Amino acid sequence: MTAAPDFVLHAGYSLRELDQADADELHALIERNRPRLARWMHWAQSQTAQDTVAFVRRAEQKAREGRGFHRCIVADGRIAGVVGFSTIDSLNRSAAIGYWLDEAHQRHGAMTAAVAALVDHAFDRFKLNRVEIRADVENASSCAIAERLGFQREGVARQAYRVAGERYSDDAVYSLLAADPARRALTSRAQRRDEAAEPTARR
Ligand SMILES: CC(C)(COP(=O)(O)OP(=O)(O)OC[C@H]1O[C@@H](n2cnc3c(N)ncnc32)[C@H](O)[C@@H]1OP(=O)(O)O)[C@@H](O)C(=O)NCCC(=O)NCCS
Repeated sequence: MTAAPDFVLHAGYSLRELDQADADELHALIERNRPRLARWMHWAQSQTAQDTVAFVRRAEQKAREGRGFHRCIVADGRIAGVVGFSTIDSLNRSAAIGYWLDEAHQRHGAMTAAVAALVDHAFDRFKLNRVEIRADVENASSCAIAERLGFQREGVARQAYRVAGERYSDDAVYSLLAADPARRALTSRAQRRDEAAEPTARR
């Protein structure tokens, strides 16, 4: 049985845990979005159905060990995207968040709300001091999420990520620190979304 949503966003979007039963649906979504995902994320180029099963298994394992935290975005009971921290660096109290969305669900603010909710949660739950977002400088939609949420652009890590073949992306590095005013704004943003969407939202 799939997990119940534990973060309610707006416009019918919510977040819930991923589990093995999701692997087929998730893989079909990757297949449908493969070219646009592969433009920015190397794993999308060649991910097989077995790789998707392995990704879900790894995400579950890391969650159990407190080394990672993922959620899928759902709308009308179907998976619309994934957002999460692949690694939580507990020594440095730091983590980086990644995300992708089905093309049909773009432009509704779902990912901005999902990142706000998860980052807000992770600061508390994992006692983080820093959350990072890295995005290709040419990936305007991804950079816009970081900027909309008040992450500070620190600079550009040149050719930091091998996308496919011989293409390396220049990554804009954004961070949000626990002490930043925008971190507190995140809490009220996440709460406002929950209250607007459903007063009984579980956190
Ligand atoms: C990156 C990605 C998730 C961004 O998707 P997105 O739909 O632009 O992001 P959101 O869901 O937050 O929606 C924001 C858009 O909705 C609009 N919007 C509507 N209602 C909104 C609301 N309540 N709150 C915020 N934005 C809202 C915004 O204006 C924005 O549209 P615009 O770009 O035309 O200005 C998506 O493009 C994607 O999956 N890309 C491929 C994978 C990828 O690049 N991942 C990131 C790698 S670093």
